Amino acid sequence: MSSANSHSKHACVVGMGWGDEGKGKIVDLLAGDFDVVIRFNGGANAGHTVRIGDDAFALHLLPSGVLRESAVSVIGPGVVVDPLALVDEIEGLESRGISLSGRLLISDRAHLVMPYHKLEDRLRDSGSQGKKIGTTAKGIGPCYAEKMLRSSAFRMVDLVHLDRHTDRLKMVCQRKQAILAAMGADDESLHDDALDFDGVRSMLQSVKNMLSGYVTDTTSWLEDAISKGRNLLFESANGMLLDIDHGTFPFVTASHTGLNGVPAGAGVSPHLVQRCVGVTKAYATRVGNGPFPSELLDERGDRIREVGREFGTTTGRPRRCGWLDAVTLRRSVVLGGVTEIAMMHMDTLSGLPEIGICTGYRLGDETLRSIPADADDFGAVEPIIEMVAGWLDDVSSVKRFEDLPDAARKYIVRVEELVGASISTVSVGPERNQTIHRTR
Ligand code: GDP
Ligand code: IMO
Ligand code: MG
Repeated sequence: MSSANSHSKHACVVGMGWGDEGKGKIVDLLAGDFDVVIRFNGGANAGHTVRIGDDAFALHLLPSGVLRESAVSVIGPGVVVDPLALVDEIEGLESRGISLSGRLLISDRAHLVMPYHKLEDRLRDSGSQGKKIGTTAKGIGPCYAEKMLRSSAFRMVDLVHLDRHTDRLKMVCQRKQAILAAMGADDESLHDDALDFDGVRSMLQSVKNMLSGYVTDTTSWLEDAISKGRNLLFESANGMLLDIDHGTFPFVTASHTGLNGVPAGAGVSPHLVQRCVGVTKAYATRVGNGPFPSELLDERGDRIREVGREFGTTTGRPRRCGWLDAVTLRRSVVLGGVTEIAMMHMDTLSGLPEIGICTGYRLGDETLRSIPADADDFGAVEPIIEMVAGWLDDVSSVKRFEDLPDAARKYIVRVEELVGASISTVSVGPERNQTIHRTR
């Protein structure tokens, strides 16, 4: 069993499932003890909620540490930044009295999500239902693909020196219009001013004025911060089951979502982070398409969705709900580098007389303890479900592990056994103070 390494100086928070595990709450909680919080992957596809009293903040590109005034927020080189969305987010926080001046840094190497990436995302994902990934339509896949193509990509440093890129921008915008037309974009989208060269350039010009002051070489800045003894918290977007290499391909996002993403995406040594908090709900959810063997298509799934308010932070889509899957979680422990687990939404399961845990899969005559590579095979497996006792009491004000109902404690211990890592934190509601820290 992986052991908690809570004394390690630097830490990382990763999602162990298909996203929306509650990373925002955990990052916000931990950020009180860290000097710097760094996003290293994904973009505005993320929606991380932090609840402070009656205020709810939905963060998409800004790290969830922004609500802790003592912490500096960094958007690393591995993040794909929609500059319009970022400006909106910064202005949204400012209008609520939260200023980022002097405590936000954006990597000069981070790539820009352009307006044509968002249209391309929608067009690519508009196929028949079985083939649709169900992306967030935030341009994430096309932007990462452009990064790999290199010559047509734009980064933050190019925004700062926009005049140096006029000819290239013109050429790329013209080429994109032809590609989008060939992909079936309708006339209205193609003639949208926001998509042609003049429109894209004037948009970039306006966000340049707003963002340039935050853009810097964050890699050198972090090196300096480490040498001064600052402690760093890395915040993943999305979840391990959406990882481009290790997730349920092709129903995944386009980046590395675990500790594997930190060195490249944040620009730090691979040896830096020893502590990795994996976040999971006490059940499983998924937005978008793709296999989900333990999904509940009956009233129990509906109940979890209603009680847990399982509707997307970024797109508002209803989330698919099911039993916790110990097989996928175990894989996330190994591949995500998880050293301890935060288990969220224990309050949402209250009232269920019995709770299921998926411990394996059946495919034809075979019993599987691992995940098939083929999404059709994974979609066809029958989950092997172990039913355990549930609890009826409301746990949302419980403060100590010992005060949880017997069945809730047994459930947690059983999940630890199956998954192979200890559950150090149990969350019983969205608020900061609805959190049980287990001491051993
Ligand atoms: P993230 O993307 O991983 O940061 O998660 P989201 O913010 O998209 O979704 C998690 C949702 O669950 C948010 O609305 C949180 O406020 C809420 N939440 C987090 N922890 C708990 C919990 O223990 N109980 C309940 N009821 N809600 C929680
Ligand atoms: P947070 O950080 C939940 C899902 C999408 C889709 C697939 C690909 O809030 O946990 P993309 O737009 O990335 O190309 O979509 O991945 N997805 C998420 N689901 N939470 C997220 O982020 C997600 N980010 C991407 O629904 O199935
Ligand atoms: Mg989310």
